[in-house]
Amino acid sequence: MTQQIWTAVDEYVEEKLIGPDDALEQALRASAAAGLPPIAVSPAQGKLLYLLARVHGTRTVLEVGTLGGYSTIWLARALPAGGSLVSLELNPAYADVAQSNLAHAGLADRVQLRVGAAIESLRTLVAEGAGPFDLIFLDADKPSTPEYFEQALQLSRPGGLIISDNVVRGGALAEQDTEDAGARGMRRFHDMLAAEPRITATTIQTVGRKGYDGFTVVLVES
Ligand code: SAH
Ligand code: DHB
Ligand code: MG
Repeated sequence: MTQQIWTAVDEYVEEKLIGPDDALEQALRASAAAGLPPIAVSPAQGKLLYLLARVHGTRTVLEVGTLGGYSTIWLARALPAGGSLVSLELNPAYADVAQSNLAHAGLADRVQLRVGAAIESLRTLVAEGAGPFDLIFLDADKPSTPEYFEQALQLSRPGGLIISDNVVRGGALAEQDTEDAGARGMRRFHDMLAAEPRITATTIQTVGRKGYDGFTVVLVES
């Protein structure tokens, strides 16, 4: 099995189950034109986030790592009337692109972007007494995922979901002595999950147009 067939299957699924979508496609075009890296979730992954948010009855979302707002659009679309999403992004130029993409998607009214280092923004949210959030999506710098998870636990409601992207890193997750700083972060994240009695979690490996990676789904029990 190769990257070529993983991409072909993603293209097939996109054609059958996702279809043309002006706001999402425009968000990717504008992101590319502004020089953002092409690392947004794939369409099929974005739709999974959307579906999880809907089946979970999500009204409030916290996203860590906005980029051009592609995953933000998927998640914001899952919200009912009155729902809201806060997304954290370090790079102000990326946040500008995301703001414009969200406006074009008609979602600016329910999304708040906060620019700055996510760990600071998360601490500010905790200090403000923000949340609790129904769903938290961790998708920023991978080495810091354990620190983001600690804050996310504080910001989650009982019964809340925490989802982390990019946890498998081409298989490096299973390498005890991996040099990949992201994978080391994801191993530390798994150590935390293993030691945390308040959660139930699993990690799913994925292949697709973005290669071999995976995601973790965490249910916050209390
Ligand atoms: N969720 C997006 C992709 C995010 S890519 C999507 O799927 O569409 C990761 C993002 O995290 C990048 O935009 C990067 O600038 C941001 N980032 C990196 N380090 C960060 C930090 N310390 N605080 C906040 N955001 C950070
Ligand atoms: C990469 C992929 C991602 O999904 C992400 O959030 C950050 C980086 C990457 O492939 O480098
Ligand atoms: Mg990602």
